Amino acid sequence: MRPDIIINLAAMTDVDGCEDDVELAEMVNVNGAECVARLCNEYGIRIIHFSTDYVFDGKKRIPYVEEDTPAPLSVYGRTKFLGEKKVLEIHPYPLIIRTQWIYGNGRENFITKILRVAEKEGRVDVVNDQFGSPTYAKDLAEPIRLLIDLKKTGIYHVVNSGICSWYDFAQEIFTRKNMCVDVVPISSTQLKRKAKRPAFSSLSTEKLKRDTGYILRSWKEALAEYLNQI
Ligand SMILES: NC(=O)c1ccc[n+]([C@@H]2O[C@H](COP(=O)([O-])OP(=O)(O)OC[C@H]3O[C@@H](n4cnc5c(N)ncnc54)[C@H](OP(=O)(O)O)[C@@H]3O)[C@@H](O)[C@H]2O)c1
Repeated sequence: MRPDIIINLAAMTDVDGCEDDVELAEMVNVNGAECVARLCNEYGIRIIHFSTDYVFDGKKRIPYVEEDTPAPLSVYGRTKFLGEKKVLEIHPYPLIIRTQWIYGNGRENFITKILRVAEKEGRVDVVNDQFGSPTYAKDLAEPIRLLIDLKKTGIYHVVNSGICSWYDFAQEIFTRKNMCVDVVPISSTQLKRKAKRPAFSSLSTEKLKRDTGYILRSWKEALAEYLNQI
């Protein structure tokens, strides 16, 4: 095969698992990204590499722009950031897409999980101190195709519009599904997870809008379409 473009989605994405196996996280998220970038460079293939809001520490109170300095809190965030750096160093015209809180068809995600728990228990505990933008995987396709067509390079943030907490997200899911569920707000510390998550990691899509004219629809609209399908 002689592809024109390689979209690299491969990663060790188990955020807490990365804390347990730092070496593997580095192998996959840093060295893996490096290998793909090297091969793409060698064969003149464009590379689209996926990254994450977890490169930021979440201390900012307005959405992060591409120029903000990453300060990851977790092994996952650090290795994804180092992966970005490798791709940018090695490849002369890479495109890095940072996104967050993805859900989509064909696999388990926050929505399918929370619906399952709610149906069984009638109650769910959801963190209300982490803010971001839930993003429908389907909605990434069009802006990424535009970025490719316009031969854009560098880092771009691509997420659905609007900001909410996981708690708000859960409330919206049950409202749309007409389900009566006891949604209990909890703090991140109550979950006792190994990896720290950024408290506020909303990503600004102003650069995408400026360079392509494209604006992603709101997370609520995208969620409504997704819920109609499942
Ligand atoms: N999901 C999100 O909310 C989110 C948010 C921001 C950024 N991202 C980024 O988006 C990308 C895709 O995420 P996702 O949620 O779709 O993750 P995912 O479901 O965990 O998919 C990751 C893929 O990477 C593959 N992979 C893992 N280790 C590999 C290795 N050593 N060699 C080859 N392939 C390997 C996995 O293959 P197997 O299935 O065979 O293990 C899997 O298909 C990642 O780069 C992630 O960092 C995701």
